[in-house]
Amino acid sequence: MNRPRHIAIIMDGNGRWATKRGMQRIRGHERGAEVVREITTYCANHPEVEVLTLYAFSTENWKRPKMEVDFLMKLLDRWLAKELETYQKQNVRFEVIGDISKFSPKLQDRIKKTKELTKDNTRLTQVLALNYGGRDEIVRACKKACAAGVEIDEENFEAFLDANLGDVDMMIRTGGDQRISNFLLWRAAYAELFFTKTLWPDFMPTELESMIEEFKKRERRFGAV
Ligand code: FPP
Repeated sequence: MNRPRHIAIIMDGNGRWATKRGMQRIRGHERGAEVVREITTYCANHPEVEVLTLYAFSTENWKRPKMEVDFLMKLLDRWLAKELETYQKQNVRFEVIGDISKFSPKLQDRIKKTKELTKDNTRLTQVLALNYGGRDEIVRACKKACAAGVEIDEENFEAFLDANLGDVDMMIRTGGDQRISNFLLWRAAYAELFFTKTLWPDFMPTELESMIEEFKKRERRFGAV
């Protein structure tokens, strides 16, 4: 049976969730951050999930109004400060992919410290994709390989990506759109795709559980017959 070792999620719909309730979009991000915790806890207690990668800020998200970008940065900083205790309690290792050099020194420092303090945790790796774009990651990986004088091939390429996470088994997108939006392009080559109309702030572990059940029933051929 298929094993959902690596689950990746495009968390879409925060803004619409808030607007529907007559609230500012940023309130949707706030609620979205709580859902990140709930889904991470579910995955940390799932016997087969090892990696959970979440698209938290794309290379395109800088185009949003400054107020929203500033809020997301502050939310992330506050959230990581608070989340450290949860990571340690739940034995979760924190990892990041994306080019964080564009973030404030304070946020970069918070990210690096959280990674360092959780590096020996083994139950689950929670990966936040921050200032992340799949093409950007591949281009940076090629540059690293060139600089190291290494001839890349399909076997050694992942070592040059931002983190060694392995292939994605399930890629989920909430919020109703059916596209990959430049997420994890290399690792999602054989991912099973799941799309739901549920907005991210309404996404519950029970829905993830149903998707995992469906995933287990799907036939994965990896190009073979
Ligand atoms: C998409 O919703 C969501 C984002 C661009 C950011 C994701 C951020 C969070 C889930 C909260 C912060 C996360 C952490 C880890 C602290 P959207 O704003 O594009 O929604 P819309 O499509 O309805 O406008």
